[in-house]
Amino acid sequence: MTDPIRPSGDSAATIEAHGLTKSYGKPAVRVLDGIDLQVGRGTVFALLGPNGAGKTTTVRILATLTEADSGTARVAGYDVVADRSAVRRSISLTGQFAAVDETQTGEENLRMMARLTGQSRAAARRRAAELLERFGLTVAARRPVRTYSGGMRRRLDLAAGLVGSPEPGVFFLDEPTTGLDPRSRQELWEAVRELAARGATVLLTTQYLEEADRLADRIALLDRGRIAAEGTAADLKSRVGGDRLDLVLTSRDAYLKLAGRAVHHSPGTLTLGIPTDGSAAQVRALLDEIDPDGREIERFSLHRVTLDDVFLALTSNAPMSNAPTPNAPTPNATTPTPPEASAHV
Ligand SMILES: Nc1ncnc2c1ncn2[C@@H]1O[C@H](COP(=O)(O)OP(=O)(O)O)[C@@H](O)[C@H]1O
Ligand SMILES: [Mg+2]
Repeated sequence: MTDPIRPSGDSAATIEAHGLTKSYGKPAVRVLDGIDLQVGRGTVFALLGPNGAGKTTTVRILATLTEADSGTARVAGYDVVADRSAVRRSISLTGQFAAVDETQTGEENLRMMARLTGQSRAAARRRAAELLERFGLTVAARRPVRTYSGGMRRRLDLAAGLVGSPEPGVFFLDEPTTGLDPRSRQELWEAVRELAARGATVLLTTQYLEEADRLADRIALLDRGRIAAEGTAADLKSRVGGDRLDLVLTSRDAYLKLAGRAVHHSPGTLTLGIPTDGSAAQVRALLDEIDPDGREIERFSLHRVTLDDVFLALTSNAPMSNAPTPNAPTPNATTPTPPEASAHV
């Protein structure tokens, strides 16, 4: 069960997990059902899933706050159970609710935390000023934290995770942007990108497909305690067949005749989506092949695949979770598109 021990210096993956399981309660409910993860150094990795998928549980195991029932994990080259304190020294964990003192100013909070890591008064002052500057909080430095906006609060949380010296190399951010307005979210994304640009490894959890798409080098879709799919946003999108040619058909007969080869079905509007690479040549050939006499297709449009499509296709919410390839006929051809196809899963 244990992997050969590799020194952190030449470990290709900064976070590695194999077969993590976790159950809670009596009778036991399995929350994680065999999670494997590999996160490369200096990359941003998104664990994407709806509420209750097991994101926080995974993060807590990797950050040594909870022990898995089985499986192994290494962070920054250290085993999360055997080398717990080495892991803790190597990571920063930011949750949705961090331990800053609301009544103190941002500057006071950071200085106090830096002092707690053993830095001298002068070093702590320098470190606090540096971090306030880096996270765009200098103007708010002397204000009590309770007056901060949600976005400022989150950035202060991030800064708080960095006060130690040296800076940790691995960051766990558990839903860092949940509840933030769009501008604050953008600002936090910037801060995360900058962490990665400086060589840090970031594992973040999110319920937002768009966030994973915009921010992460790699994405794992977590669904009921299992990784439903893993890869770059482009990989995942290609798993549901790249682009889609959406056809509005002229009759129910035409709809039923073609439904078997579609990956998207909307019987109410007689619309079917057929996988395509989006090239003019292929679209033209498809139209000719499907409707040689020009009677069955009323209109068509090209649909670019989004992570929403991926999520719906690869998780348990999906009507077509059993269709592994775009060309496989869908067993239940008339399943309507679920209404929850939104950006916020
Ligand atoms: N300490 C706990 N005791 C009992 N059940 C828990 C505990 N922590 C999490 N769970 C359950 O595990 C499931 C996954 O939770 P969690 O990892 O927090 O999911 P997420 O962060 O993706 O929303 C949920 O059903 C939750 O109720
Ligand atoms: Mg959570």
